[in-house]
Amino acid sequence: MAEITANSSTFAHPSAVSSAEQPFQSLVNTVGELGKSLEGISAWQAIITILLLSVTYDQVRYLWQKGSIAGPSFKIPFMGPFLESMNPKFSEYLAKWNSGPLSCVSVFHKFVVIASTRDLARKVFNSPAYVSPCVVDVAKKILRPSNWVFLDGKNHVEYRKGLNGLFSRQAMGMYLPGQEEIYDTYFKRWLEISKDGKPRPYMSEFRDINCAVSLRTFVGHYITDEAVKEISENYYKITEALELVNFPIIIPFTKTWYGKKCADFVLNEFARCAALSKVAMEAGKEPGCTMDAWIKSMIEAREAAKKHESGELEGEMKASAKIRVFSDMEISMTIFTFLFASQDASSSASTWQFQLLADRPDVMAKVREEQLRVRGGDPYKRLDLDLIDQMVYTRAVVKEQLRYRPPVIMVPYEVKKSFKLTENYTVPKGAMVIPTLYPALHDPEVYNDPEAFNPDRWLEGGEAEAAKKNWLVFGTGPHVCLGQNYAIMNFMSMIGKASLMMDWEHHTTPQSEDIKVFATIFPEDDCHLVFKERLPLTPPTSS
Ligand code: HEM
Repeated sequence: MAEITANSSTFAHPSAVSSAEQPFQSLVNTVGELGKSLEGISAWQAIITILLLSVTYDQVRYLWQKGSIAGPSFKIPFMGPFLESMNPKFSEYLAKWNSGPLSCVSVFHKFVVIASTRDLARKVFNSPAYVSPCVVDVAKKILRPSNWVFLDGKNHVEYRKGLNGLFSRQAMGMYLPGQEEIYDTYFKRWLEISKDGKPRPYMSEFRDINCAVSLRTFVGHYITDEAVKEISENYYKITEALELVNFPIIIPFTKTWYGKKCADFVLNEFARCAALSKVAMEAGKEPGCTMDAWIKSMIEAREAAKKHESGELEGEMKASAKIRVFSDMEISMTIFTFLFASQDASSSASTWQFQLLADRPDVMAKVREEQLRVRGGDPYKRLDLDLIDQMVYTRAVVKEQLRYRPPVIMVPYEVKKSFKLTENYTVPKGAMVIPTLYPALHDPEVYNDPEAFNPDRWLEGGEAEAAKKNWLVFGTGPHVCLGQNYAIMNFMSMIGKASLMMDWEHHTTPQSEDIKVFATIFPEDDCHLVFKERLPLTPPTSS
């Protein structure tokens, strides 16, 4: 054993990862030899020896995988920084990203490499042959293992093609009336809540409004108001269930159990909506939500295939026309991924947007001026795409918020085969590699004064729009966010309308500027606000 410990530092050779198996084999042999000489020693001696050997093996393996990259020079035996990862602190992430372009940790058996520069992050996102998105085990139980988001490679690309049209410009125009309906309902509610003039934390209200907007957009009026309420109020249980470390089985009355229960409710509700949408689309009704649009495209594809078969249509069928008619539960599972992917990120973005607008009256004044101008002076003009196209400043505010406080700070990927990330470092197969988004979005070489919230940098002559490679808010590569244009449009519509109809004050606390990590990032104090009516929510002439 003494010999193994003495040699351990030589195992940490930077380029040695690809030949990592060799020393393990010799370690196994040594253990075997030791086994033979253990005869005659007490049980305690044997236990202590095995324990010390295991600790040594764990250390050696860690140092071997770490190679030359930044990371602790010693791993807390077996568990590593597991306790820290239970309650992640933003400052700790920041310190890690600043520790080097590549850094690492090892938690239990999992070796994790963090890629902190823009170019390394982009390389990970754009290397589907080596990496695939990594989800915590419970995500598969919540979304169901056969869900499309767990597809890889060609299968994933093919499936995604059939979904792209659901967030096209034309589709987004169709979603706007439903979104505006939800804004009206929630603005009214916030004014009610604020009637006593007391500031309250609004983070959970922003979660609720985003959930309700998503549900109206994705499944329209097929879902009942009661179900919207039930899902909006309980969705946080799904987020809570997605902790990094969970038991492998779902134990009743634990976070994962509550999360799964909520997810099953959503899946059954969406499957019921899919059945109703199929009837409506088969009857030739106009689509009014994402589910309708997708089912309509399935019906069109089926009809096109029939015509091809009968020879009525000639030539190669378009890729988008090749989708089949999915079952109600398959449709439900896919639509659920949209809710799942959007909910936490959108809630984070909205919370920061409302906080930042209250903190910056100069920015709020410009947003209001633009909102009224594009509506031709009529604050009650309903939203449409042409109106949104003209909101140049409001768009700049949204994009700057997403840069300044990006909801998603890192995206974990699983390494499928050993991956040469730099000249000197190869990430071993089976490790996790995490491209980070935050450092690229705060890069002082690209953004002037990156720690300042400055929407003007997105206007003509500003530096931000040209920095395409640094714009990693929505990832990049084959898994780039499917809903990114829709998300930006939703935020512009929501804060634009809110700025016209309401005043709100931010009651700052010592934690307002601190960043809390709860799947995405939020102000540590959950954003204390008070809303006041600026204009009656309904035009004075209507009853
Ligand atoms: C502020 C809001 C949002 C942010 C910051 C965000 C960010 C992201 C990021 C970073 C990824 C991973 C990309 C990658 O691995 O390269 C992603 C994937 C995804 N997002 Fe978003 N997202 C947002 C809103 C939405 C919305 C509203 C939807 C749906 C309508 C959506 C649907 C998806 C889907 C389906 C994926 C997985 C795509 C795939 O694996 O092919 N996201 N998003």
